[in-house]
Amino acid sequence: MANPLIHLLKPEPAHQLALWALRHGLGPRQQLDDPALRTRLLGRNLVNPIGLAAGAEKKAEALPGWRAMGFGMVEAGTVTLKARKGNPAPRLWRVPGQGVVNWMGLPGDGIGSFVTNLRAFHQHKARDELLLGASLASPDGDLGEFGELAERCAPWVDYLTLNASCPNVFHACENDPARTAKRQLEAVVRRAQEKPVLLKLGPSTDSAAIRLMVDAAMEAGAAGIVATNTLPWDKRELIGDNGFEWPRHEQQPVGGYSGAALLDITCFMASECRDQLGPDVPIIGVGGVQSGADAVRLLDAGANAIQLYTGLIYRGASLLKEIADAIVQHRG
Ligand SMILES: Cc1cc2nc3c(=O)[nH]c(=O)nc-3n(C[C@H](O)[C@H](O)[C@H](O)COP(=O)(O)O)c2cc1C
Repeated sequence: MANPLIHLLKPEPAHQLALWALRHGLGPRQQLDDPALRTRLLGRNLVNPIGLAAGAEKKAEALPGWRAMGFGMVEAGTVTLKARKGNPAPRLWRVPGQGVVNWMGLPGDGIGSFVTNLRAFHQHKARDELLLGASLASPDGDLGEFGELAERCAPWVDYLTLNASCPNVFHACENDPARTAKRQLEAVVRRAQEKPVLLKLGPSTDSAAIRLMVDAAMEAGAAGIVATNTLPWDKRELIGDNGFEWPRHEQQPVGGYSGAALLDITCFMASECRDQLGPDVPIIGVGGVQSGADAVRLLDAGANAIQLYTGLIYRGASLLKEIADAIVQHRG
C-alpha cells in the first residue's frame, strides 16, 4: 500500500499483503499528534481528524497497525451478519487519475469473527487513542439483521455507521431511499445502546435529494453524516470524462468509483450538510482526499474530520503526514 513495488501486484493481492504486514507489526509507523490536530468528535478527543474509510479494514483484524500508521480514527467493516464471498474476481481495478473502481460486494467473515477482533482490540493500549467505528450493512435490507449487527458491535466501538449506499449490493426500496434509510437507521439506533449512529450517503450534487436523506437521518435519531460512498456507473456524469473505460462483468458496467475526481462532490455535500445541520452535528467527509490541500479544503467546507482510502493506495502513509502538516499549518 505504501511501497511502489506493491503496485506490481494486482490491487486486491496488494491490499491483502498490506493487511498482512499491518497485522504483523510491519507497517509504517508515525506519530501525528501535534496539539493543533486534536479534534473533539462524537464525545471523544481525537489525536487527529484523519480517518481510515470503511472497506480498507473490513474484518477489524489489524487495528493496532492502522493506529501505528498515524490514523486518529478507523471505520472498520462494512460487516454483514453472515460470511460472504462477495463478487467474483476481478473486482478491484486501478483507473487513471488516481482512482479505483471496486465491485467487492461486501466480502467478509461475518459478525462473529469481526466482534472477536473488536474484543481483542479492546485490551490493546492503542484502543484509547483511536476513535473506532463499525460500518454495518444488510445486503437484503433486513431490519432484524441491522438490529443484531448494532447490538453485537455497540459495546466495542465508539460509533456505528449505516452503510445504505454501497453500490455493489442490491438495496430494497431504491425508489424511496430516504424512507428506506430512515427505517434501517431506526432499527440500528434502537439497539445501539446509546452509541452514536451515522448515516453514510452516496454521492450527489442534488441539494434537494441530500436534504431529504439528511432529514430522514435526523428524524431516525442519527447523530451525524458520513459523505460520501463510491460513485456508481449510472452517476458517472458527476465526475465528467476521466478518460477511463468503466470496468465490466459479463458486458455490464459494475462497481463504484473512488478517487481524486470525487473531491468536488464530497466538498459540496459537506457544505450542504453543514448548512442544513448547523455547527454542532458531526460530519465526516470522505471521497477524493489525496493531498494536504484536499483535506484542508474538505474541513473548511464543513467536515469535522476526514477519511480516506484510495489516496492511501496511491500515496501510502506519507499522505497522512502531508495532511497532518497541512492541517497544523492551516490551524496555526
Ligand atoms: C476497495 C474498496 C472497498 C470499499 N468498501 C467499502 C465498504 O465496505 N463500506 C463502505 O461504507 N465504503 C466502502 N468503500 C468506500 C470508501 O469507504 C470511501 O467512501 C470511498 O472510497 C471514497 O473515498 P476515497 O476516494 O478516499 O477512496 C470502499 C472503497 C474501496 C476503494
